[in-house]
Amino acid sequence: MTALKLSPEQLAALVRGMPKAELHIHIEGSLEPELIFALAQRNGVSIPYASVEDLRAAYAFTNLQSFLDIYYAGASVLLKEQDFFDMAWAYFLRARADNVTHAELFFDPQTHTDRGVAFSAVIDGLRRACDQAKAELGIQAELILCFLRHLDEASAFATLEEARPHLGKFIGVGLDSSEVGHPPEKFARVFADARKLGLRAVAHAGEEGPPAYIWSALDVLKVERIDHGVQSLKDPELVKRLVAQRIPLTVCPLSNVKLCVFPDLKAHNLKQMLDAGIVATVNSDDPAYFGGYLNQNFIETFAALPLNAHDAHTLAQNSFEASFASPDQKRRQLHKLEAYCERAL
Ligand code: HPA
Ligand code: ZN
Repeated sequence: MTALKLSPEQLAALVRGMPKAELHIHIEGSLEPELIFALAQRNGVSIPYASVEDLRAAYAFTNLQSFLDIYYAGASVLLKEQDFFDMAWAYFLRARADNVTHAELFFDPQTHTDRGVAFSAVIDGLRRACDQAKAELGIQAELILCFLRHLDEASAFATLEEARPHLGKFIGVGLDSSEVGHPPEKFARVFADARKLGLRAVAHAGEEGPPAYIWSALDVLKVERIDHGVQSLKDPELVKRLVAQRIPLTVCPLSNVKLCVFPDLKAHNLKQMLDAGIVATVNSDDPAYFGGYLNQNFIETFAALPLNAHDAHTLAQNSFEASFASPDQKRRQLHKLEAYCERAL
């Protein structure tokens, strides 16, 4: 596709309407304050905020940890299978509005099982929403189980054990939560076991942590994608490898600004990544906390950076290429994207 000169409004419309995959969304991070309050009331859970406005006002983060403290407090209202369904369904309705046609949702079972919630309530509620998203909204949806890296290896192993009877319901494992001080190596044996079970592997690395964590996510955990990875540009050898091996990065621009990884969107390195040939994608991370869902991430990032129609096309293409859809599903998704671009340009 040629780099057509579009007005900012035309470019925004192109980006909004593009079919795309979302590969980095923590479903617990899609819990809007209104739903947190509704579920707290339904379940008789008390939360340390007086109102929706009070809670929203607390969303002034200075780093990853300051966010995680509030994010885990928000998730405490989730108790029953129906709660997990309701949360994911609300996300899928937003995803449909943003023309997301394939979504891979992270979920954090330890956040719930450590509070006494049954693993089956978590995964069955989420899976039911995924199946309904496919049937009613035409969104291909899959689940990726994330281990909390601030907890120990034994807890991750216990979680993998609990997940075993549910193997058909999720496609892979990931690694999230507090990054610095918790390198990927800590979970080498858990990831090796997960891969033996036929699960795909991804990991958060290089969000706040150093490029060395990206190297070890690749070499020790043997992940197929890196979540965030924005610190990779500090290491030219790493960039060469990411490009040569077409290892995708799931980048989350609004998250990076909200957690002070970059001072503002104008300072974000997404354009440099694309120009270097990295298979970068755009994602929302925790949209209820970071100021927007997928299209909001695209629109604000395209307004702030010198990105053009060619970049938009590349980002959408990358999102399907980087997904864990089957080759046949990928072909069909890419075909739809091409048909859309031909119509729109
Ligand atoms: N980083 C690490 N862990 C997380 C994040 C994130 O951006 N969101 C939810 N858990
Ligand atoms: Zn994340």
